[in-house]
Amino acid sequence: PLSLPGGLDAPAPHRVADRYAAVRRPGAGHFENTPDTDPSVASFRTWGAEITARVASSTLGTRAVQEARLGSATALDSVLGRVRAAGATWGTWSGAARGAVLHAVGDALEANRAALVEVMAAETGKTIDQADPEVSEAIDFAHFYGTLAAQLDDVDGAAFTPAALTLVAPPWNFPVAIPAGSTLAALAAGSAVVLKPAPPAERCGAVLASIIDTALDAMGAPADVLAFVQVAENELGQQLVASPLVDRVILTGAYETAELFRSFRPDLPLLAETSGKNAIIVTPSADLDLAVKDVVASAFGHAGQKCSAASLVVLVGSVATSRRFRSQLIDAVSSLTVGYPADPTTQMGPVIEPAAGKLLDGLSSLGAGETWAVQPRELDDSGKLWSPGVREGVRRGSAFHRTEYFGPILGVMTARTLDEAIDIVNEVDYGLTSGLHSLDQAEIGTWLNRIEAGNLYVNRGITGAIVRRQPFGGWKKSAVGAGTKAGGLNYLLGLGSWSPLASSV
Ligand code: ALA
Repeated sequence: PLSLPGGLDAPAPHRVADRYAAVRRPGAGHFENTPDTDPSVASFRTWGAEITARVASSTLGTRAVQEARLGSATALDSVLGRVRAAGATWGTWSGAARGAVLHAVGDALEANRAALVEVMAAETGKTIDQADPEVSEAIDFAHFYGTLAAQLDDVDGAAFTPAALTLVAPPWNFPVAIPAGSTLAALAAGSAVVLKPAPPAERCGAVLASIIDTALDAMGAPADVLAFVQVAENELGQQLVASPLVDRVILTGAYETAELFRSFRPDLPLLAETSGKNAIIVTPSADLDLAVKDVVASAFGHAGQKCSAASLVVLVGSVATSRRFRSQLIDAVSSLTVGYPADPTTQMGPVIEPAAGKLLDGLSSLGAGETWAVQPRELDDSGKLWSPGVREGVRRGSAFHRTEYFGPILGVMTARTLDEAIDIVNEVDYGLTSGLHSLDQAEIGTWLNRIEAGNLYVNRGITGAIVRRQPFGGWKKSAVGAGTKAGGLNYLLGLGSWSPLASSV
C-alpha cells in the first residue's frame, strides 16, 4: 500500500456531503442556478449552517500529510527505489487488467465525493459548486483512462513499454482533478507514480492519494505503485525532480516552474501544461446575453485562478461602441456574491494566498489609459477576499494585455474587426484556451483558422474542458515538453516508449 501509514483519516462518507450529493446536479455551473427559484439551491440553504461548521472545522488529510512528509535524501531515495520496483511489476500487467483497477478507482472516488469536496473547500477556499464538478472530472478521468489502458494492449503495429516511475507535480488550483488525471494517466500507461502535491493543497493531495491507494490495494495492485510524497520546495524538492530514478515528470503549473524544473535537469522528460493569458472575442453577431454569462463564468469561476480562465474580453465593432454589452457585464460582475465556501450561497471565493506581487498589482493599479469599470475591493483583512474587478481601456502591448495574473480581474479590449481582435489575442506569449462568441459561420471559420491556442471554444465558456470530449493542453508558452494533450491515447504513449513490432516492419 501507499507509503502513507494510517491512510485516510476521515470517516467516509459523512452526512453533510451526502445531503449535498442528493441535491447536486452534475456538471451544473453556479451561473445556471438562480438561488431564489432553484429548488436544489433552496434545500441547500436549509443546511447551510451544518456545512459551514463542517468545512470550517475540517481536519481531513492533516494527519496523512504529516506522516507523508519526507525529511531526508535517504528517505527519498528509498521511496523512489520501492516505487520503481512496483512500477516494474505493474508494467507487466495487461492494459485491460490495469484498466479494471482504474474503473474501481473511479468508483472509489465517487464513494468519497463528500470528503473530496470538503477538503477542497476547507483547504483551498474552492467553492462547493466548483469543487463538486471537479470530483466528477476526476471520476471521469478514472473511467476514461481505464478504458484507454486496454487499448494499449493493441496499439497498432507497436510494442509499448511504460516508464517505470512517473513523478506527478500538480497545481493547487485543481487539487483533485489534475493530480487524479495525471496519476491515473500514468497508472493506465503502466507506470508507478510518485505524487507530490502543491504545498497549498497538500491535504487535498493526501485525501485523494489515500482514496486511490485504498482502491489499488483492494484490487491487488503492487504495493508502492503509488507513493504520496510531501517535500518542501527546497533542495529535497530539487533532488526529487532531478533524480535519475524518475523517468517522466507530469507538471501542471506556471511556465517559470517548468523552466525551473528544466534547470534542475536539462534532459528532463517533461510533460508540462503551463500558464495562459486567455481571451474571449465577442463580435456583433453574438448572442450577447450568452456572451456575458460565459465571460463572467470564465473570468471569475474559482476567483479567476484557472490556467484556462478568461483574463481578457475583446469586443469587436459595435459591441465595443454600444453600451449594451458593457453595462450587462458590469451588472453581472457587480452582483456576484463573494465569500467563503462554507457559505453555500457564495459564488466567488477567496484567492489562495494573501494577494501580493503581480496579483496585488493587478487588483490595485491601473496601466496607462485604463479605468475601472468595476473596481476590486478587499472585503476583509485576510488579504485573500477580493470582490471581482473589470478594467477597461487595456492597450495592446500593455502589462495587462500580456501578463497572467491568476485572480479575479478581467480586462476589456476593443478592436474594429475580427481580424484585429485575433491579432490582439495571438500577440500574447501563451496559447492555452481561447473563446469566440459569434453566430456567423464565416467569422467562426476565420477564427478557427487563425487563432493560436490549444483549446478553442465557440459560444461557450472557456473553462471546464470535458474529459473525453475536449482533451486539454496548449501551445506556445502554455506547454513545455512533449506537448500532447491530457485526455487521449497520445498522452499515454508519452508516458512510455514504443517501437514498431517486428511483424509490422
Ligand atoms: N481543465 C481545466 C479547464 O478546462 C483547467 O478549465
